[in-house]
Amino acid sequence: MSDIPLFNLPLLHAPIIDEISENMQSVVSSGLFVGGPEIARFEQEFTKIARLPYAASVSSGTDALVAALVASGVQSGDFVVTVPMTFIATVEAIYHVGATPLFVDIDKNGVMDGEKLTELLKTTDKRIGAVIPVHLHGVMAEMRRITAICLASNIPVIEDAAQAHGAMREGVAPGELSLFATYSFYPGKNLGAFGDAGAVVSTSESGVEQIKALRNHGRYDKKYEHERIGYNMRMDAVQAAVLRVKIKYFPRWQREREEIANKYYDYFNESGIINHLPVKDVNIRSAWHLFTILHKRRDELQKALKKRGIQTGIHYPIPLHLQKACESLGYKEGDFPVAEQFAQQTLSIPFWPGMSDEHISTVAEAILQLL
Ligand SMILES: Cc1ncc(COP(=O)(O)O)c(C=O)c1O
Repeated sequence: MSDIPLFNLPLLHAPIIDEISENMQSVVSSGLFVGGPEIARFEQEFTKIARLPYAASVSSGTDALVAALVASGVQSGDFVVTVPMTFIATVEAIYHVGATPLFVDIDKNGVMDGEKLTELLKTTDKRIGAVIPVHLHGVMAEMRRITAICLASNIPVIEDAAQAHGAMREGVAPGELSLFATYSFYPGKNLGAFGDAGAVVSTSESGVEQIKALRNHGRYDKKYEHERIGYNMRMDAVQAAVLRVKIKYFPRWQREREEIANKYYDYFNESGIINHLPVKDVNIRSAWHLFTILHKRRDELQKALKKRGIQTGIHYPIPLHLQKACESLGYKEGDFPVAEQFAQQTLSIPFWPGMSDEHISTVAEAILQLL
């Protein structure tokens, strides 16, 4: 068998590439590359995936976070609480609005620990402008608990759902209990464009209208009338054309992700020797962005799998509080032990919708043999 990749975008796109090309071509023919009906249609359709009433498309998941922070009223000099186990874009957005990240550790599922957040908010004397839980690998943080804590302190919550299209926890979707949830449509995401793209969703129509103004140079309605200083953060119409086709297949792909995850679960649960995420919990419906295992000898396992032609990934090998880019925050090793252990043990294994049973068994059996 040839090498097994971590994920396989060409294979995913192959059956629908003509449909996508045709839709892209119709945008090209229309000449409406910025804004226009394709963007509006996509936003409407994405609300169904996000299970929230309002959506604004933007140029990336990073810009979605920046716009949501600005629309939440976060100001220069504020602190914004997030987790050290995320992609750096989460903290970049905080820096971009002139605020400073303040980290809180993760729990056993790799997402913000509600208890530690409570402790932090009780003891800090810093001005907290917002809290950003990150739904890592498709697993939502405990939003019922986190939003209740933040509501009591009047702190807006923005959910970084870049990896969590279609996720649910305790019956709620990202953004349902908070002010905003932000999504990325980076090509490798569960719903991916052919380049960079993102969205902000909310239950608040006026909140989403603010995002639409911010993304378009601070303009609410009339051309050349700017009510605030904004940004150029618009999603390209050709990306909407790609995403509108892929959205039709999204429910099937999500079902396939879940089925494949369950097959991996069966292999690993029977063996009893490997931890996988999330820990089985009926309240968590993962978006299955990645299938992740945790293992003490992760690096050895990764090398041995590579020798057998099995590609893996590490999301993420260095927690953000130990990144050079965040040095000025003054954190040190040992400050967030759960995130640090997670960084040492996490391994993402081959996983994509449509992955064959043969591939699944090859990967699972190789891991079990190598332990
Ligand atoms: C958790 C998280 N937040 C934010 C982003 C940023 O999204 P984008 O790459 O679309 O800017 C990503 C993308 O990788 C992400 O994984």
